[in-house]
Amino acid sequence: MDVGSKFPQMQTTIFTEMGLLAREHKAINLGQGFPNFEPHPYLFERYHYYLTNGHNQYAPMMGVSALRDQIVKLHKRTYGVKLNKHDEITITSGATEGVFCAISALIGSGDEIIMFDPAFDSYVPNVELNGGVAVHVELDDHYRIDWNRVADKITDKTKAILINTPHNPCGTTLTESDLDSLWNIIENKNIFIISDEVYQHIIFDGHKHLSPFNDVRMRDRTLAVSSFGKTFHVTGWKVGYVVASKELSAELRKIHQYITFCTHPASQMAIADMMEKFPNYYADMAKDYTERRDFFAKGLNEIGLKTYPVEGSYFQMIDYSPFSTESDKEFAIKLTKEGKVTGIPISVFYETPPQCTVLRFCFAKTYEVLEESVTYLDKYLNK
Ligand SMILES: Cc1ncc(COP(=O)(O)O)c(C=O)c1O
Repeated sequence: MDVGSKFPQMQTTIFTEMGLLAREHKAINLGQGFPNFEPHPYLFERYHYYLTNGHNQYAPMMGVSALRDQIVKLHKRTYGVKLNKHDEITITSGATEGVFCAISALIGSGDEIIMFDPAFDSYVPNVELNGGVAVHVELDDHYRIDWNRVADKITDKTKAILINTPHNPCGTTLTESDLDSLWNIIENKNIFIISDEVYQHIIFDGHKHLSPFNDVRMRDRTLAVSSFGKTFHVTGWKVGYVVASKELSAELRKIHQYITFCTHPASQMAIADMMEKFPNYYADMAKDYTERRDFFAKGLNEIGLKTYPVEGSYFQMIDYSPFSTESDKEFAIKLTKEGKVTGIPISVFYETPPQCTVLRFCFAKTYEVLEESVTYLDKYLNK
């Protein structure tokens, strides 16, 4: 029978592909973005409490009240912006669902949405499922947005611009000047913004997380998506949220209520308790990741690998051109099989894959694993 596949060309994600290869060849997997260390024990304690005390039925559609209270507090404390917990926050099953609902709320048949390559892999299929058209703009040589390129791509059909800050895989963050440029482009047009901010709290060296949602000029136009998985080292829990104006949240919820309806309640309750008990958790976590980033980058530099600056996220991009001119995909496969370290080739995140010698490594790993990875890389590259 002909299923009439919606995505005949689509294969499994690069994360699955490289993860399987890593397992097959017993390589250290720095490919997929997840921590290999445990979350705070208090989170588990509260999770267990809620699981065994009656929090196993449907949660409210927009999310557990206590968690939305904590998001209000966090947002006020961090960005000075007061959210309305009833109308402006929606808890989703991971940022993946949040991004999907945001795209589905805005994008219909023939609508164009501008996104930046390299782009997180779920964006394009989300747009295409909604009959929309993904319009790709490549980041510049420093992995920053060239707003002239964006301006050139605006048409009567442009419905939204999808940004990601801090950026995966590049680790760059938006600046004040980026926000000004974004505003200049959309000010007189009916263009919305989806802002993927899953790494907003993993930000380094005094860089500020700048969200269009926190900018009064763009608040009404923005759906900002975040994830607790990244922040609390529980990516498997898949708890995320979207902040947006009352009007945009209402549209988002129309989708969310028929996709998952609600998100696992015990996880939400436990995260809320964690946020209440440890308000400094966020700052401590960013400091911890700063130290891991520096430790890893130093090791990589010492063995001759070039590293790109990381302003935010837990990804380190490296340039292996001093060692090989092979394409990044070929090199990533060889490195896994022979060097026993797995990274992600970044060309896969482009509509038109460039010739490049750049891999992405995740440094949300224990110091032992980071050190061992550098030792393996050294042995392989400098043999
Ligand atoms: C940029 C970006 N957006 C969205 C997601 C999905 O987040 P979640 O695991 O909360 O669904 C990820 C996860 O890796 C990501 O890196």
